[in-house]
Amino acid sequence: MAFTEQDFIIREKLLNQPHDLVIDSEAPSNIALVKYWGKYGVQLPMNPSISFTLNKSQTQTTVYLTALDKISDKVSFKFYLDQKHQADFEPKIAGFFKKIKKFVPFITYFNWKIYSSNSFPHSSGIASSASGFAALSKIIVDLEKQLYPPKTETYYAYKTSFLARLGSGSASRSTAHPVMIWGHHPDIKQTSDLYAIVPDFEIHPIFKTYKDSIILVEKGQKKVSSTVGHTLMNTHPFKNIRKQHAYERVLQMTRYLKSGDLENFIKLTEAEALELHALMMTSSPNYILMQPDTLKIIHNIRNFRKKTGLPLCFTLDAGANVHVLYPDEITQQLQQLLFSKIEFETIHDYI
Ligand code: PMV
Repeated sequence: MAFTEQDFIIREKLLNQPHDLVIDSEAPSNIALVKYWGKYGVQLPMNPSISFTLNKSQTQTTVYLTALDKISDKVSFKFYLDQKHQADFEPKIAGFFKKIKKFVPFITYFNWKIYSSNSFPHSSGIASSASGFAALSKIIVDLEKQLYPPKTETYYAYKTSFLARLGSGSASRSTAHPVMIWGHHPDIKQTSDLYAIVPDFEIHPIFKTYKDSIILVEKGQKKVSSTVGHTLMNTHPFKNIRKQHAYERVLQMTRYLKSGDLENFIKLTEAEALELHALMMTSSPNYILMQPDTLKIIHNIRNFRKKTGLPLCFTLDAGANVHVLYPDEITQQLQQLLFSKIEFETIHDYI
């Protein structure tokens, strides 16, 4: 049964008094195969999405918690990235704490020193917000476990994703592996707009070896933030057809992941990437995140696939970089096509 927002409100009394604590966690990044694009309410998705977890791209976080004598309304914290104080990240984290306070009021009982680092370089094009908010949410749920009477593992798993979602939508899909679905789908059990779940089927062994290599076209800040892109979907002329596609495609993707149907997996993954960017190019105002090199790489991938029959494909997130998805067994053969251009490689594997 799916949980409601009310289920995540703590009604029990504290079991243990707040005391000084150190808690560590790590969380992976993820890449959507069927994309989340557009939202409603408080960070709820316009459509369901499904992603691969990128287990080799992690954010590690350690928090040093000091119990406070006097509880304030706001969470007092400092954020450090690679041991350096990063004040410019703090407004986003403060906003996150404000949104989640209703569900985890105990966060105000402490002073927080948050130390984070990423296993992937800054310039890799991987958004650290997904793994970062997922790692922090794991810590908060861990803290809840230490302070309140025990609950089920399902409650803790869903609550972690629920909290992460309030930091950044796609972070909801960074709390477990190998595949996560976020957003209610009438034909997929347990799915919810409030949090992501691990679907209850075995993925085909071929996908357990899949890799994601990112070809960097552009480093640094995106020109148009995802937040703006999501908002433009509210009045998008193709909003309804987009929603319909996403529902159909999430279901199709689950079938291909189960059966190992690579041909259709490739078709669908690439169709989704291009549709995401087509939505950007047809919103009002419209914008283009792909660069000439993005298209060049896409053509190269398609030509190479045609020539060799190898099952590689591309996907895109909200930027110009190209994610190349392929089974481990063809890594060698891809060297000639891609690896001269690859500056960063990330692998997701499933244990
Ligand atoms: O989580 P946000 O708000 O950064 O949005 C992410 C949107 C995409 O990366 C383009 C798609 C997705 O599902 O991750």
